[in-house]
Amino acid sequence: MLTAKGFAVTMHDAALPIPQKKLLKLLKAKHYDAVITHLTEKIDAHIFDAAPETKLYVNYATGFDNIDVAAAASRGITIAHAPTDASTEAVAEHTIALMLSLAARIVEADEYVRRGKYKGWSAMNFIGMDLFGKTLGLVGIGRIGKRVAHYAKGLNMRIIYTDPNQNAEFDTTYGAIYYPNVDDVLQNADIVSLHTPLLDSTRHLINADRIKLMKKTALLINTSRGAIIDESALVEALRHEDITGAALDVFEHEPKLSSGLRKLQNTILTPHIASASIEARNEMAIIAATNVLEYLEGKEPSNKVTL
Ligand code: GLV
Repeated sequence: MLTAKGFAVTMHDAALPIPQKKLLKLLKAKHYDAVITHLTEKIDAHIFDAAPETKLYVNYATGFDNIDVAAAASRGITIAHAPTDASTEAVAEHTIALMLSLAARIVEADEYVRRGKYKGWSAMNFIGMDLFGKTLGLVGIGRIGKRVAHYAKGLNMRIIYTDPNQNAEFDTTYGAIYYPNVDDVLQNADIVSLHTPLLDSTRHLINADRIKLMKKTALLINTSRGAIIDESALVEALRHEDITGAALDVFEHEPKLSSGLRKLQNTILTPHIASASIEARNEMAIIAATNVLEYLEGKEPSNKVTL
C-alpha cells in the first residue's frame, strides 16, 4: 500500500525483532516520515531524540505499552496503533483454545502419548474439568473480553467481570454480574481470563495475595500482557497447587520465562501468538499502512492514541 503510493519503504525483514541499537542507528542515519513498530521495540525518549524529525509511530499491535505516549505527546509526535476486528477474533479464539486445552489437559496428554507412556486405557487418566456451567471471571471487557464472553456463553458458562465501568448492555446480553473489585472476581471464578491493557494500575494486578483469593480448582488464562501477573508469585502458587493451572500466551519478561515456569506440568505456554491468525496479521498490516497514509496526507490517523 505504501510503495504503491510512491513512498520509499525500508523494512526490517527478519524473523526476530530488530535490536534496539540497530533501530537507533537506522533512525539516526536517515530521515523517516513515519515508523511502523512492533510491540518488541521500546519507543521512548531515546528513539524520539535519535529521530527528531519523525513525527509518526504506528504500532503494529493492539497494545501500545511499549511506547512512551506522554514523551511522544510532549514532543508533538503522533502515536497510532492497529486494533482490528480480526485480531480481536484471533485473541478471543486463542483464549478459548487455551481454556479448553487446559481444562481438558490436552497438551499434557499429547506429550504423554508421544513419549510412549500410553500403555492402556484407565478411567482416571488425565482427569480434567468441563467448562460447561462453570463461572468465567473476565478482568476487563474491552473488545477482546467481550468476544471471549460471546464464546463462553456458547459453552454455557456463567460470566462475572470487573472493569473500570459496569456495562449494562453487556450485563443484559450475557447475563453477566459486575464486581467493581477484582478480588471478588478472583474469589468467585472457576476460570479467570485477563483482558486488560498494561498500565501502572494493572502491573502485577495478579500478585501473591490475589492468587490466594482464587479457588484451588481455578484456572488462570493470560492473553493480554505478561506483567499483569507477578510471574514468580504464579510459579510458586502453581508449584504448591494453590490453583490448578495456568495458560499463558504472554510473559512478564518475554521471551524469558520466570525460573521454574517451564518445568510446571499444570501450565500451557504459547509464544505470544494469540493474534497470529493470517486474517489478523493481514488486517493489522492494512490498518498500520492506512494510518501512515492518513497522516502523510495531512489527516488525523484513524487509530491515533490519545493520553
Ligand atoms: C498483541 O499482543 C497486540 O497487542 O496486538
